[in-house]
Amino acid sequence: MRSHTCGELKSAHIGESVELYGWVNRRRDHGGVIFIDLRDREGLTQIVFDPDNPETFAVGEAVRPEYVLKIIGTVRERPEGTVNDKLPTGEVEVLINQVELLNASETPPFPLDDDTDVNEELRLRYRYLDLRRQEMQNNTRLRREATRFLRSRLDDLGFYDIETPFLTKATPEGARDYLVPSRVHEHAFYALPQSPQLYKQLLMMSGMDRYYQIVRCFRDEDLRADRQPEFTQLDIETSFMGEEEIIALNESMIRDLFKTVLDIDLPNPFPRMTYAEAVRRFGSDAPDLRIDLELVDLDDVMADVEFKVFSAPAKDNDGRVVALRVPAGNSMTRKEIDDLTAYAGKFGAKGLAYIKVNDMSAGLNGLQSPILKFIPDAVVQTILDRTQAQTDDLIFFGAGKAGIVNDSMSAVRLKVGKDRGLLTEGWKPVWIVDFPMFDWDEREKRWNALHHPFTAPQGTVEDLEANPGETLSQAYDMVLNGTEIGGGSIRIHRSEMQSAVFKLLGIDEQEAQEKFGFLLDALKYGCPPHGGIAFGLDRLVMLMAGSESIREVIAFPKTQSASCPMVEAPAVVNNEQIKELGIQLRKKRVE
Ligand code: AMO
Ligand code: AMP
Repeated sequence: MRSHTCGELKSAHIGESVELYGWVNRRRDHGGVIFIDLRDREGLTQIVFDPDNPETFAVGEAVRPEYVLKIIGTVRERPEGTVNDKLPTGEVEVLINQVELLNASETPPFPLDDDTDVNEELRLRYRYLDLRRQEMQNNTRLRREATRFLRSRLDDLGFYDIETPFLTKATPEGARDYLVPSRVHEHAFYALPQSPQLYKQLLMMSGMDRYYQIVRCFRDEDLRADRQPEFTQLDIETSFMGEEEIIALNESMIRDLFKTVLDIDLPNPFPRMTYAEAVRRFGSDAPDLRIDLELVDLDDVMADVEFKVFSAPAKDNDGRVVALRVPAGNSMTRKEIDDLTAYAGKFGAKGLAYIKVNDMSAGLNGLQSPILKFIPDAVVQTILDRTQAQTDDLIFFGAGKAGIVNDSMSAVRLKVGKDRGLLTEGWKPVWIVDFPMFDWDEREKRWNALHHPFTAPQGTVEDLEANPGETLSQAYDMVLNGTEIGGGSIRIHRSEMQSAVFKLLGIDEQEAQEKFGFLLDALKYGCPPHGGIAFGLDRLVMLMAGSESIREVIAFPKTQSASCPMVEAPAVVNNEQIKELGIQLRKKRVE
């Protein structure tokens, strides 16, 4: 039987006979003596094959990386000068007495040492090997530590872990649904849940009081580094708690998580910012506060300038003109500015005007810009004052529809901040609060729910109906270092309010009944006031691990094109199966 793991042995074990199991991580032949690092989940232990024992030595000569061994040997002190401080087992080695080759291995398709830069597609095709790498083992352990902490915290607070169905009906979280055809009910489809939103609300109506679940959610949306088609939420709902109490409970849980698992102190309390302030200052409702750059509003001074690119949006109610000062940005080359302009273009910006501040002491003569000739001196002076420009700075401008200016200038802010070393170390959480209930969809000419249609507004039905565009909701997002890690709200618990919101969203009574009849009914039977939140567990662990992508903290993630190169999903299925499901495939679209 295994006596120790490969991460355990220390000088206290010297002289003991031990039995270890693991993989050959690396083999070194020192002409006469062979060393291998034996690896398991817990670490590495150095094993010594002595030529005085020809039988074991022959095995030592034959083994290659990733062979699986059973080893019985004696722990001994490493000779002076060979102690490895970086390895927890670095004081000792195990001199082999017996060795059993449990399995051989082909040469892996890529080296499993950590510092290798391997194509991600290849890593995902051989994910079971990729997961053997130290970094992936660490990330997996970290994820386990995090979920263990979160579960035990919520268990202690009286939350019940309750499972909700995967085969269900569409839940409106704003993405496309994954559909599953029903064999039994011809022409009918289940939808995989985008979140357990409605079920968790129904559980509150069932008197379950406090619920949580670590649960898979499915969203067919465009993928990015922090988005997967199936991802995991820590989903939470509670009855009889208001916004402040829910925020406090979750904030202390996340703070304690970082302290317990990473020994990191997050600020207490987390700062709060209204949605309006976040968008005004950073162009985003998930601002990265590690970057000390802000958008400066110029609508008022640009309305009358001759330069139409600026004056038109300045006068337009839906338009916006902003400046972004980049300290010491004057050193940016023409090419860097052109590249950044192209980058802003990806977010819809039509250009990225700029002023270089060569010398503040020279007044307006110290400035350099293609747009100066279009802007009166007094306005230029106001720009310099408002942005607090200094010699060697560069000021960028964004002008256009507010949505585009916000998206493009917040992206420029992030990119410039990261590229120019303006990102400070550390952790910057922030709660974003006071979201609007709705945003206006210009194309469809209707309101959309900013969070989801079950979120309670601030105020009464009358307030809401009088002014839907101005009504704020009781929703809150937790943002950490520019990533939205969680979002939730107080829910509507009265059917009149729910009906009013559906109506404003253009969902008429019949449609409301068809889609959410069960919810509207349930609201009539004594629904308690309730609310909750869902954290993106993958994103949370990604940040904790310092990874760039959630794929690094998911055991078996999908690629950017929502496929799995290992099992080769999605896959074509046979005609029989298709027929049985009562569906028919049309001809492939020509790309
Ligand atoms: P929301 O849609 O904001 O809210 O999702 C909650 C959190 O889930 C994470 N997340 C994702 N992570 C990875 N890949 C994705 N595709 C993805 N989409 C979302 C984010 C986000 O903050 N039912 C509501 C919650 C509630 O109101 O209680 C909901 O799902 O970190
Ligand atoms: P143009 O008149 O199109 O040559 O633009 C003059 C300058 O204004 C260039 O530096 C453009 O990059 C910039 N510019 C054009 N459109 C916008 C816009 N919508 N927002 C910010 N800058 C712009």
